[in-house]
Amino acid sequence: MASTDIEIPQTETPPEVDGQVSENAAESTFAEVDDSERAVPAIEFRDVHLSFDDKKVLEGLSFKVLTGETKIILGGSGCGKSTTIKLVLGLLKPDSGQILVDGEDITHHDENQMMKVRAKIGMIFQEGALFDSLSVYDNVAFRLHEQGVAEEEVEQEVRRMLHFVNLEDAIDKMPIELSGGMRRRVGIARALVGDPKIVMFDEPTAGLDPPTARTICELAMKLRDLEDVSSIFVTHEMNNLDYLSSEYAVVNEAGEVIFEKEGEKLCLINTKVLMMKEGQVIFSGTDETLRKSEDQYIQEFLAPARTLKGTDEGEGMRDESKGG
Ligand SMILES: Nc1ncnc2c1ncn2[C@@H]1O[C@H](COP(=O)(O)OP(=O)(O)OP(=O)(O)O)[C@@H](O)[C@H]1O
Ligand SMILES: [Mg+2]
Repeated sequence: MASTDIEIPQTETPPEVDGQVSENAAESTFAEVDDSERAVPAIEFRDVHLSFDDKKVLEGLSFKVLTGETKIILGGSGCGKSTTIKLVLGLLKPDSGQILVDGEDITHHDENQMMKVRAKIGMIFQEGALFDSLSVYDNVAFRLHEQGVAEEEVEQEVRRMLHFVNLEDAIDKMPIELSGGMRRRVGIARALVGDPKIVMFDEPTAGLDPPTARTICELAMKLRDLEDVSSIFVTHEMNNLDYLSSEYAVVNEAGEVIFEKEGEKLCLINTKVLMMKEGQVIFSGTDETLRKSEDQYIQEFLAPARTLKGTDEGEGMRDESKGG
């Protein structure tokens, strides 16, 4: 997935709260004003409501993920993060409101229409969700096999994706033979087949040790900064917030991908935070603004020992208590 044209940050209009745009960012912003495709958000929720039986889960959820933007979604367990992602995929339908993907209103799409929308979206499920009876190869190849792509091409693609997540050696293994971190990376490789321009991560690092979690954030940064992917990244872990909102991927002179801290050279304007509580947005903006918030719930959320939920001790550990 190497690409040479890097333009960071990539966004069209400075959205939401954000006073801190560097000169580079401003140039990039102006250069892209005429690019009409970028003016259409990759994902948009308009006043979405959803209840399960009597339980209200989403109560007027509205937000946009701009093209090329990473939206980090924070929020306590059960506040509706996974539900939000399932709505984008059309696995659930809202009771009211509108959901748009790439400008297309998918709210009332039937299964056939949704299949076409899903083809544009890479999904990394909360629980990894590999098919246990299929090898790593067949898991990654799943979408291509469904599309009837020639096996030679499938193999090339599977190898390219496994290379991206640094797991080429696992190609013939079964999921049960893999550690939790490896399973997660296979899930990412599978989601990236076909180079989707929208990728959704549902707690991709839950239960992973910090270095493995870091590599998963690096994959998300590579997609954002080198591939112009728009994404939703649901997480509880403050390390993830730190990485994604303060570092960016670039290709150095030797052609290697490296990660730099935002600072003198540029400010990231393509990464925003959305915090949900009880099915509504209680914060939307930059991580800097989030950290300055005096809201008690936000303060408490940011304060505890790096993660709100469970511990984070070792690769392979999974939080089985969580629902999907
Ligand atoms: N299919 C369903 N039927 C009934 N209730 C559901 C269903 N899916 C989710 N819920 C409920 O909706 C609420 C939101 O669930 P959701 O999975 O979106 O939470 P979440 O924010 O992703 O939480 P976590 O951080 O634990 O993953 C929860 O109270 C959950 O029990
Ligand atoms: Mg969830």
